Amino acid sequence: MSFRIQPQPPARPNRCQLFGPGSNPKLFEKMAASEADVINIDLEDSVAPGDKDAALRNTIQAINDVDWGRKTLSVRINGLDSPFWYRDVVDLLEQAGERLDQIMIPKAGCAADIYAVDALVTSIEAAKGRKKRIAFEVIIESAAGIAHVEEIAAASPRLAAMSLGAADFAASMGMQTTGIGGTQENYYMLHDGQKHWSDPWHWAHVAIVAACRTHGLLPVDGPFGDFSDDDGFRAQAWRSATLGMVGKWAIHPKQIALANEVFTPSDAAVTEAREILQAMEDAKARGEGATTYKGRLVDIASIKQAEVVVKQAEMISR
Ligand code: COA
Ligand code: MG
Repeated sequence: MSFRIQPQPPARPNRCQLFGPGSNPKLFEKMAASEADVINIDLEDSVAPGDKDAALRNTIQAINDVDWGRKTLSVRINGLDSPFWYRDVVDLLEQAGERLDQIMIPKAGCAADIYAVDALVTSIEAAKGRKKRIAFEVIIESAAGIAHVEEIAAASPRLAAMSLGAADFAASMGMQTTGIGGTQENYYMLHDGQKHWSDPWHWAHVAIVAACRTHGLLPVDGPFGDFSDDDGFRAQAWRSATLGMVGKWAIHPKQIALANEVFTPSDAAVTEAREILQAMEDAKARGEGATTYKGRLVDIASIKQAEVVVKQAEMISR
């Protein structure tokens, strides 16, 4: 048992992060009008090398001109293994206005990757007299990223969120799949001749959730590639939510409602959580540390579990 108090992640809704390529400015107004909590304009892998410059210009213009409402506005910069990322950071920090909330750093492999971006951002913020400190989010999407997940989560006080990027992760790990997230045909247990499919992303999710919860970041599930498969998206999202993740990416607008549905605690779940808290209040008044609720044990740990649900619901309804 550590004497340290677990830090709280940023108190903002992060149920759905909607992506759109910076090279497709027609999408920006639609993204702003969507029900996503977070907007990610992409400069990285959905933008062809020849379009990088135009995408950066479009993005800066959109940050300054589009009404993004109360959404968290984030830009995914190019990876530190590319010749593009420093220009992304310099131009965004020098030319985009204070509406920019966050920068997403892809393919983070070690704490020094975050340190490098932090040093550049800190210097430009000071030079330009920027008032709002830019937050960071990172994608864990490589073998090095998952091996160093905890030092990455601890790398900067700017860090607000961390996502699993299933496609690049699978490639880096040498996994035999071309699917982006979800069930993999060949990942099964055999019992009495019956196949029972298991979840190959499970341990990476758990590692990310543990690193995030230790250091006060929001753990987020990344993309689900097959946007025609609503049930597949839901099943993946429910597994992530059960493991402690707070949201999921949408790579097509039809995935937004699905993510919001899964990551908004249901009325029934909130009512039950409030009843558990009440049952524990009543137990406390009787001088008891444990009691029964609907025929099952609830104790002091149950208060913390119920508070997770109630706090999430209250934060979303604000
Ligand atoms: N954000 C907002 N609106 C979007 C959108 C997005 N990311 N993607 C599509 N739309 C809009 C379309 O403009 C279209 O609008 P309309 O009805 O007004 O014409 C509507 O949603 C339906 O789009 P659809 O025809 O089904 O898709 P598409 O062929 O235009 O685009 C993708 C499909 C996958 C290319 C596109 O969704 C996309 O670019 N997604 C994001 C990719 C990305 O950023 N990847 C990086 C992270 S992994
Ligand atoms: Mg990627």
